[in-house]
Amino acid sequence: MIVAIDGPSGSGKSSVSRAVATALGVGFLDTGAMYRALTWWCLDSGIDLDDRDAVAQAATRMPLEQGYDPDAPTVAVAGRDITAEIRTTEVSTRVSAVATNVLVRPVLQQRQREAMAAIAAETGGVVAEGRDITTVVAPDADVRILLTASEEARLRRRSAELHGTTDDAAVEATRDQIVRRDREDSTVSQFTVAADGVVTVDTSDLDFDGSVAAVLAVVRRATTP
Ligand code: DC
Repeated sequence: MIVAIDGPSGSGKSSVSRAVATALGVGFLDTGAMYRALTWWCLDSGIDLDDRDAVAQAATRMPLEQGYDPDAPTVAVAGRDITAEIRTTEVSTRVSAVATNVLVRPVLQQRQREAMAAIAAETGGVVAEGRDITTVVAPDADVRILLTASEEARLRRRSAELHGTTDDAAVEATRDQIVRRDREDSTVSQFTVAADGVVTVDTSDLDFDGSVAAVLAVVRRATTP
C-alpha cells in the first residue's frame, strides 16, 4: 500500500499523513525533511548553498538515516540526531535555496524512491508526503492525494504552530513567510493543482480528525476492489 500525499505549507499535510500511516499500520516518509537535512548539513559543514554543484554532490554523499515510525519520525545525518535542528528558523528560511536547486532534486527524488521501497518492504506500505510525490517521485502510487486548504486556513494553522496564537498580528507575521515559501517552492513543482488521477482533499473546513478521516476514506475507496 503506497500512499502519496502532496500539498502546500499549512495544509496539515505532515500531521495528517502521520496519523494516516498510523491508522494503516505502515511507515511514514517526510520528504521535506530530506531537503531540510541537506540544508542543515551544508550549513554545518560550510558548503555554500548557492554553489549548486557542491550542494548536489552533498546530496549524493549525505549519510542520512530517517526513522519511519509515524508516531516519532526521526532524522539523523552521520549518526547525529538532527530531528529538532531541521526545524529551526535558519533551516526553514534557507531550505528553498536547496529545494529549488535543479541538480539536487533528481538526487533526492531517487533517494526518496529508495526510502519508500525500503519502508514498504519493512512495514507493508508507506505514506510519503511532500510537494512532488504524486507527480514525480511516485506517480504509480496506489493512492495519490493533494491536500489543500484556503490561504486563510493555512495561515491560521501555521500562526498557531509558530506563534501559539491566531490573533491578527501573528497571522500577518506568518503571511509573509508562508506566501514567500509557497511562491519559491512552486517554481520547481506544481503542488497547488491536482495532476490527472490525483484526488483533492480540501481541509479548510475540517479539523484534524476530520482531515484524517477524509484521507482514509479516499484510501479505502481507492483500494477497495
Ligand atoms: O514540507 P517542508 O516545509 O518540510 O519542506 C521543506 C522544503 O522542501 C520546502 O521548501 C519545500 C521543499 N520540498 C520539495 O521541494 N519537495 C518535496 N517533495 C518536499 C519538500
